[in-house]
Amino acid sequence: MKHVTVLLNEAIEQLNIKSNGIYVDGTLGGAGHSKKILENINQGYLYAFDQDGYAIEYAKNILKDFENYKIIKSNFRHLKNRLNDEGIEKIDGLLLDLGMSSFQIDDETRGFTYLKDADLDMRMDQTQSLTAKQIVNTYTKDELAKLFFIYGEEKNSFKIAQRIVDQRPLSTTMDLVKITDQVNYREKGHSAKKVFQALRIAVNHELGVLEEVLEQALDMLNPGGRIVVITFHSLEDRIVKHYFKEKSTSQLPKNLPVMIDKNIKLKVITKKPIYPSEKEMLYNSRSKSAKMRVAERV
Ligand SMILES: C[S@@+](CC[C@H](N)C(=O)[O-])C[C@H]1O[C@@H](n2cnc3c(N)ncnc32)[C@H](O)[C@@H]1O
Repeated sequence: MKHVTVLLNEAIEQLNIKSNGIYVDGTLGGAGHSKKILENINQGYLYAFDQDGYAIEYAKNILKDFENYKIIKSNFRHLKNRLNDEGIEKIDGLLLDLGMSSFQIDDETRGFTYLKDADLDMRMDQTQSLTAKQIVNTYTKDELAKLFFIYGEEKNSFKIAQRIVDQRPLSTTMDLVKITDQVNYREKGHSAKKVFQALRIAVNHELGVLEEVLEQALDMLNPGGRIVVITFHSLEDRIVKHYFKEKSTSQLPKNLPVMIDKNIKLKVITKKPIYPSEKEMLYNSRSKSAKMRVAERV
């Protein structure tokens, strides 16, 4: 299935694109955002990161009519080093549209979805060694329970962890779904939704890499340059919200006679997150959980 880009026009508008600027799309995916960025820069340049070889092959075709871009096959946690390798020290904007693309979710071989039977894999970067199968078969009961609780906000995390340990080794997504079905009875939503989210976050170190890239982007952004982040679950959104708040708030005592606090690095553009329109949510159900936050380098 084709990937339908979420918050396309809203994200491009928020990037405040200068036609000669240097932009980074940290999550190329189906290239919907990248294509729109390229349509808005002519003397500028785009660097697009993705760690998924399949996404890159797909995107190359979408972007075949453009020249002023380079695709970098890498985790965006290496943003600074990879751009420095290209001779780039400063950028004018970074876009992150986190999570997975529809073709990753729908690819039966990759184990991201609880709707299809596949190997318990869940790696976005298929060259890395850690898989979901390793986690469920090697973590202790307590480690698993903690993981499901913290990354999945799964209220039955202990019961699920206990059953996993009792029924190991697990090999496929359906081995895991059988267990979540026994515990969660599919009252609301799918029984395995939260556990799958937790495993995916852990396999791909999703929260850690987000913190790393925000810090590097802050360092590299030119004044006026923006960071635009689209998240799909509350853990990611919280990281972005707190990071923007921390870097935009003065740490100095309020009564000091100082006019400018040099530690303030960002201005938050979105006090409240931007959500997709009702029309978009109707048309693309994946967009329902999306939130976009924007900050500008001062
Ligand atoms: C939601 S899709 C992006 C869709 C894209 N904006 C579009 O318009 O088609 C997310 C993409 O980012 C990639 N990705 C997620 N986390 C990444 C990371 N830490 N480093 C590099 N790529 C990542 C995934 O492989 C996936 O292809």
